[in-house]
Amino acid sequence: MELIQKHFEEIDSTNTWGKHHAEELPHDKITLVTASMQTAGRGRFNRKWVSPADENIYASFCFFIEKHRTDIGNIPQVLALSAAEALKTLGFNPELKWPNDILLSKKKVAGILAETTPLSDQLCMILGIGLNVNMPLETALQIDRPATSLAIERSQHFDVKMVLAGLQQQFVKDLNIFLEEGFQPFLFSYRKSITQSATQTIRFHDNRAVWSGTFEGINDDGSLRLKLPNGESKTFVAGEILWPTEF
Ligand code: BTN
Repeated sequence: MELIQKHFEEIDSTNTWGKHHAEELPHDKITLVTASMQTAGRGRFNRKWVSPADENIYASFCFFIEKHRTDIGNIPQVLALSAAEALKTLGFNPELKWPNDILLSKKKVAGILAETTPLSDQLCMILGIGLNVNMPLETALQIDRPATSLAIERSQHFDVKMVLAGLQQQFVKDLNIFLEEGFQPFLFSYRKSITQSATQTIRFHDNRAVWSGTFEGINDDGSLRLKLPNGESKTFVAGEILWPTEF
């Protein structure tokens, strides 16, 4: 699938725009919606996504996918890997926090918000990514979780357009592979990129409860497996690993 781009100087949220305009988007292309700033940037779990002007990437990849596919939940993980790959090309050493946070130096540099809208026999997937490119340290310190940017890590200014170009090129390539072959081709590098190491104690919330356990691994379908204190292995398909500061 090829990509077309739509840019806004200012918007509430590129994901919200994608959701509201899904019906008008071409079914055979990826529409990449970008903005220089967002006035109501959204994160996972109804959080805000700090989106000041001209510093960072705020982008939503909008595309159509067959409703019956059972592996749609892996697509955000593929985008996380594409972002990690793009950062590696710039000389960084990214890691992933399950399911799709991108970290540098154990702090979050990018996050992904995946949303879908059903349209007849297809789903429009709106896959938003926020990547902190030139966010200064003062702003990162105001975020209530460990956050960083490319500029903070490297003490250097980056060209936002150049970073986005690398990311979109990588994702278009990876999405086409995923649509043909599924998640399997990505499993090895996904597992390798995960920051949690075997037997590390973690706390996890799955929207209903907080669990603690040790990290056991990533299943073939991308789900997370924890070993609970009673010795039982438990698989999670959604949720979030808590940061050490949230314990
Ligand atoms: C997260 O909580 O980690 C997900 C953050 C996703 C932020 C991006 S910025 C572009 C797109 N538009 C939004 O409102 N959110 C996503």
